[in-house]
Amino acid sequence: MEPSSSPTSDGAADIAAYRQQVEQAAAVVRESLKTTPRLGLILGTGLGRLADQITIDATLSYDEIPQFPVSTVESHDGRFLAGTLRGVPVLAMQGRFHLYEGYSPREVTLPVRVMGTLGIDTLLVSNAAGGMNPQFAQRDIMLITDHINLQGANPLVGPNVDAWGPRFPDMSEPYDPTLRTWAEEVALEHEIKLQQGVYVAVVGPNLETKAEYRMLRRMGADAVGMSTVPEVIVARHMDLRVLALSVITDECFPDALAPVSLDEVLAAADAAEPHLTTVMAGVVERIGATTSVAS
Ligand code: HPA
Repeated sequence: MEPSSSPTSDGAADIAAYRQQVEQAAAVVRESLKTTPRLGLILGTGLGRLADQITIDATLSYDEIPQFPVSTVESHDGRFLAGTLRGVPVLAMQGRFHLYEGYSPREVTLPVRVMGTLGIDTLLVSNAAGGMNPQFAQRDIMLITDHINLQGANPLVGPNVDAWGPRFPDMSEPYDPTLRTWAEEVALEHEIKLQQGVYVAVVGPNLETKAEYRMLRRMGADAVGMSTVPEVIVARHMDLRVLALSVITDECFPDALAPVSLDEVLAAADAAEPHLTTVMAGVVERIGATTSVAS
């Protein structure tokens, strides 16, 4: 039987179209920028109010950007904010895309490609996660030290765009050690408890069974969530420095598992938000300080 398509021909056309999509989106966003952004922010759960601290130059709704996916999660806004945070030019995403919404890995990571194309060198990310490490409690915040990709999907599948990064990107240290040290220092200064650990990404949207939590914990993960890893893979592909923090919104201890209520999850995210915001803003301040020394 004739194969209906070969990976070489179709894959090449797809990636060329995708690259064009990134370029077009970047061109539109660039028009509303005053300066080149240094820093990209994915304002996920627990970080929404960091937006209030940005001196905003421009707001661009995702639906104003050609071929941009539109967020389906109602609590997420779906727009870019361009401006300055603690003296650093930033581009912030209010609203991100998840695989469980039906987006492809490339769609999920399109905004990161756009921010990378526009010149950011650092990406700060937050998310909600279930805590599996028994030392963790609901409302803790966790510095991600490493991750496990259990989504069965990868945004780098297909022909590689050499202009973006290498075919086989290194993942020996995806989360920047200097940024992590700064996060620890800021947390200590403000007497904020900062947990650390490995984040495992699953597709979702259902939460895990007891047997799954047991398996994920034994694999070496401290927290589980449904985002972040695709964006981090793409950020590292583009050689961006990455820092990511999780809010522990529920306790996932298989031998004492209680049903999770969405209200409780939202309450935990709200309670942790000031801490997460303080740590991220402190890191941004340090980024600003070192940038001005360097330049
Ligand atoms: N599992 C997966 N994702 C999550 C969880 C969880 O328990 N909590 C918050 N996001």
